[in-house]
Amino acid sequence: MSEYVVEMKDIQKSFGSVKAVKNGFFTAKKGEIHSLIGENGAGKSTMMKLLFGMYPIDEGEILINGNNTDKLTPKIAIDHGIGMVHQEFMLVGELTVLENIILGFEPQKGLKIDFDAAKKEVKKYIEQYHMDIQLEKKVNQISVGEAQRVEIIKTLMRGAEIIILDEPTAVLTPQEAQHLFKILMNLKKDHKTIVFISHKLNEVMNISDRISVMRQGQYIDTVEKGNTSPLELTKLMIGREVFLNIDKTYSKAGKTVLEVEDVWIPSQKETSKIRGMSFHVNEGEIVGVAGIDGNGQSELVEAIIGLREVEKGSIKLSGKNIANKKTRAIRKSGLSVIPEDRNTQGLNREMSIADNLAAVEMDRVPYSKGFMIRQEAIVQNAKEKVEAFDIRPDDYNLPTSSLSGGNAQKVVVAREVSMDNKLLIAAQPTRGVDIGAIESIRNSLEKAKKEGTAVLLVSAELEEIISLSDRIIVIHEGKITGEMPADEANENNLGLLMMGGTHE
Ligand SMILES: Nc1ncnc2c1ncn2[C@@H]1O[C@H](COP(=O)(O)OP(=O)(O)OP(=O)(O)O)[C@@H](O)[C@H]1O
Ligand SMILES: [Mg+2]
Repeated sequence: MSEYVVEMKDIQKSFGSVKAVKNGFFTAKKGEIHSLIGENGAGKSTMMKLLFGMYPIDEGEILINGNNTDKLTPKIAIDHGIGMVHQEFMLVGELTVLENIILGFEPQKGLKIDFDAAKKEVKKYIEQYHMDIQLEKKVNQISVGEAQRVEIIKTLMRGAEIIILDEPTAVLTPQEAQHLFKILMNLKKDHKTIVFISHKLNEVMNISDRISVMRQGQYIDTVEKGNTSPLELTKLMIGREVFLNIDKTYSKAGKTVLEVEDVWIPSQKETSKIRGMSFHVNEGEIVGVAGIDGNGQSELVEAIIGLREVEKGSIKLSGKNIANKKTRAIRKSGLSVIPEDRNTQGLNREMSIADNLAAVEMDRVPYSKGFMIRQEAIVQNAKEKVEAFDIRPDDYNLPTSSLSGGNAQKVVVAREVSMDNKLLIAAQPTRGVDIGAIESIRNSLEKAKKEGTAVLLVSAELEEIISLSDRIIVIHEGKITGEMPADEANENNLGLLMMGGTHE
């Protein structure tokens, strides 16, 4: 028998005219953690969706435990012991965690679901892998990290021996990522095989046994973790070195653009309620918001962009109170937003890339004149942005639903930073993008700032906050616990404030 539990050879897969995978090759050994890395659009998700039977392959072969699988479907893949946790979660928000876990394999119709038996089995996994999950809560009330653990349990319940995780840490805080790694190490101890897709090389270097690299749909190489370095991996991924150091220009204090004054914002979660927060962002300045996820960052951003009610206090944009105004109106007053959740707040997934790149300003010059939409202007804009932001594939007539995760993010960033607005709210702007795109998105933010935009940056990456911001505010349980110039900040003093400690 082969030493591999998975072998994918000479794989080809196209979507219409887009060749997503040209010569895909991948192997996995029993009990290993195998990372799959590569630029946005390299074909990582597609390769793994093929292994999970979500699309048929055009050419090539897939062997699982030495058996040739002819026509894979997710059901057949599950029967072969494959489980997948997707880049975009697939849980049903209105159902409880337990209901989600057993969804799809309850006893046949006519029989009652045996919740007690299901619960017992789920609890076994929760204990075995120290999962920390609340079974009775509705999914829309739990954190992303918890939702992910639910997805992992789902695969285990279905007998998965090979678990694919597509960018699981993109949406996690560093603490949650550590928790996930412990779970993965325990799964490995039980001889489960893990396929781990990530853009974060430090994670990849930390957790993998072997690492495979793809570039533009092609298989490049598989290396042993012990024989490689982040530098070599970067070169394998993009064929050059990347420097994430920003040439920061320190801003001269301009006029105040965003002024948040004693703001109170409700939230379902106790720790996420904003309780009396005041700060400001000036022209030509980047203010970073550091904090452990779930301490009010999302609520604050949603309130500023008009998606959440403000209970008390004022939020002023260039002197005008925008608290409790509609998003459309706030945007008209000079707001750009890179939202945390690109799929529900940033993009219309069914619309073309070109239309998405113009969307927010579609009713204005140059895209409209009177009631007429000007198609040439939309196309011209799309051509420029696709090129400038390296959006791949470059066919701007495709719907954004056909883009890879990172390329979808680039569409949002391209549109928002180019609008030349007074205020830019950037929430997790580099989430899920590759290291080359991180470099270009960070440069775009720095450029917007140089041109006078006031930027509020919310990011789970402390390193990103420190390297981009002029000033940093730290929040804990909805309150500001400290503020400092970025050049005085480090992971230690920020970390302490993030835990609710004090400055001195
Ligand atoms: N359902 C689809 N329809 C059309 N094109 C698709 C579809 N899924 C993927 N593609 C295209 O296939 C290519 C590979 O995409 P894939 O999602 O596999 O990339 P990826 O390596 O996972 O990138 P990322 O790091 O950004 O998630 C991309 O050019 C993408 O636009
Ligand atoms: Mg992907």
